[in-house]
Amino acid sequence: MASSKHQKVDFDLYAERYEALLQTQLSFFEGDRSYFTRAKVDIIQELIKVKPKSVLDFGCGIGLSLPFLKAAFPDAEVYGSDLSEKSLKYVRDNIPNVYTLADEEVDSKSFDLIFVSCVYHHIHPSLREQVTRRLAGLLNPGGSFGIFEHNPYNPVTQRMVSTCEFDDDAILLRPSETTKLLEDAALNINSNGFYLFFPGFLKAFRGMEKALRFLPLGGQYFVIASKD
Ligand SMILES: C[S@@+](CC[C@H](N)C(=O)[O-])C[C@H]1O[C@@H](n2cnc3c(N)ncnc32)[C@H](O)[C@@H]1O
Repeated sequence: MASSKHQKVDFDLYAERYEALLQTQLSFFEGDRSYFTRAKVDIIQELIKVKPKSVLDFGCGIGLSLPFLKAAFPDAEVYGSDLSEKSLKYVRDNIPNVYTLADEEVDSKSFDLIFVSCVYHHIHPSLREQVTRRLAGLLNPGGSFGIFEHNPYNPVTQRMVSTCEFDDDAILLRPSETTKLLEDAALNINSNGFYLFFPGFLKAFRGMEKALRFLPLGGQYFVIASKD
């Protein structure tokens, strides 16, 4: 059963059905979930300056991005962390060559790349600054921090979020808020932009995504920062 609006969603309840629910949510993209997941890893791979030796997918859920991160950075140790133990168990049972970390274990490590996909909108606004500073503290010098989030200006995204069971606690962030969080954590903003412009029936145009990153119409956006 869905929780009431803005009450923290317990992703343990969704670990087994997460992928199916996401698939329904993304039917607009004609069932092509890999477009949705791979796009983020392609962006981070293209835009970070130094090849990471250690990668944290913070709030990895059932680990949909982890195989793409491992493929993009085959020499790196790739970790997924989450508050949801059941999601981490799913990762351990299903995704080879990556490691899981319970939330509290994250603080004993440091990383060259921290990748955070669709997590911040589940973190209450009053806690976002604290989480960002915590993660920035885990970055090695020269490391990168990429946040990928729903675009609150896109009406299709707004509808998807408002009808999705596991988005009951979602409070979307504007790109300016995300940028400020990273800046306030003493990180340097390197790049930002929008992506996921083309639904399935327009997939022939997906080659134009890069050129359109400046347009605030994509389904999601990214902000990438680095540490001195
Ligand atoms: C919508 S899922 C996204 C999962 C994955 N990153 C992806 O892109 O498919 C949001 C995930 O963030 C996790 N999460 C929410 N708040 C968190 C927090 N404060 N710290 C760590 N993980 C959190 C949830 O448990 C859930 O697995």
